[in-house]
Amino acid sequence: MATSPASPKIKKNMQVLVPIVAGTEPVEACVPIDILRRAGAHVTVASAGDALLVETMYGVKILADALVADCAAASYDLIVLPGGVPGAANLGGCAALEGIVRRHAEKGGLYAAICAAPPLALAPWGLLDGRKATAHPWFVENFPPEVTAVDANVVVDGNVVTSRGPATSTEFALALVEQLYGKEKVEQIAKSMLVRYEAGYSMKELNQAQWQCSGTPKVLLPLANGSEEMEAITIIDALRRANADVVVASVEDGVEVAARYGTRIVADVTLDDVAAAGQTQFDLIIVPGGMPGAETLGGCEKLVALLKRQAEADRPYGAIGAATAHVLQPHGLLVGRKATTCTSMTGLLADDGECENRVVVDGNVITSRGPGTAMEFAVAVVEKLLGRDEARRLAEGLLFLA
Ligand SMILES: *[C@@H]1O[C@H](CO)[C@@H](O)[C@H](O)[C@H]1NC(C)=O
Repeated sequence: MATSPASPKIKKNMQVLVPIVAGTEPVEACVPIDILRRAGAHVTVASAGDALLVETMYGVKILADALVADCAAASYDLIVLPGGVPGAANLGGCAALEGIVRRHAEKGGLYAAICAAPPLALAPWGLLDGRKATAHPWFVENFPPEVTAVDANVVVDGNVVTSRGPATSTEFALALVEQLYGKEKVEQIAKSMLVRYEAGYSMKELNQAQWQCSGTPKVLLPLANGSEEMEAITIIDALRRANADVVVASVEDGVEVAARYGTRIVADVTLDDVAAAGQTQFDLIIVPGGMPGAETLGGCEKLVALLKRQAEADRPYGAIGAATAHVLQPHGLLVGRKATTCTSMTGLLADDGECENRVVVDGNVITSRGPGTAMEFAVAVVEKLLGRDEARRLAEGLLFLA
């Protein structure tokens, strides 16, 4: 399996299967999908239910590319099982999926699972027998005696890779890239995404202001085709874990959005619906990056009007990655503010003096750099909006406590 520089026999078109189902953890699904596609893999997102539309945890709706039942004849280089409750158990109970993974394993194929999926899907199928594996700490005791539990973010034992949870999804996905494409590819991707392997977050805060929020915060998260799925889904997931009321609004003609790396996300509403309903009061507006998504969002008059109103009313707003440079900057929403954006776009900011920071808060404006900083950004947003205790609780659930 290992690839060394001396024998770069890397297959051109790696085929990867990522099954999802009701109750799948969306970060654990979308991070491997995003990162494996960045590496060049052909990833099939397959629904283990009877419809393509899957409602994952925290109400994140993803439209699969195929049904698991229709994938039985194909062969894969890698199969990746995301966790989640009850998603992992639902995958474990899917006979068609079990058949596919079992045949793949018998041929010595590479397979992987994260969070609750090692103990609730792979282990009951007997596919972890005699192996070292890891899982979310809440589920480790579900391993049968045939499995040796290891306390690590990622465990590679022969052709089986396991990992712990949402905060280790990136490390997990990059370990899979290493198995398929080698170390060099990992370094290249990790660098461009600004990946940091350690848990925890910090923010550079200027002009400290108390963000106002009474009761359940109402948050608007706009999406366009080409929005970065890891950024968008990590923020939606984290804010909803903290019990925020997040309205995911598509600025496209319908609610279906094709994200930057092809994840098909179904928004809750269109931004036109939001405007038509006269909904203009949000405690926070957060704009995800990704190109050309950020450019489309920056050109959306209704969104820009909402952001300007937000700024005039001194209510918080923020952006990550390309959205800082393509949505906030061109519309005067960063005047007199320090902010950050992705490495390639720092030159587009009028003031790039604090760009090196992974999360920058200047008064009511919060910005960050890219997919590799999305979880830090999301937890920082929760700290500003709901306080340090809530942020700590969130980080704990994500396994993101430093
Ligand atoms: C945006 O993506 C959706 C879903 O793939 C597609 O139906 C729609 O035509 C796209 N819109 C544009 C303007 O390309």
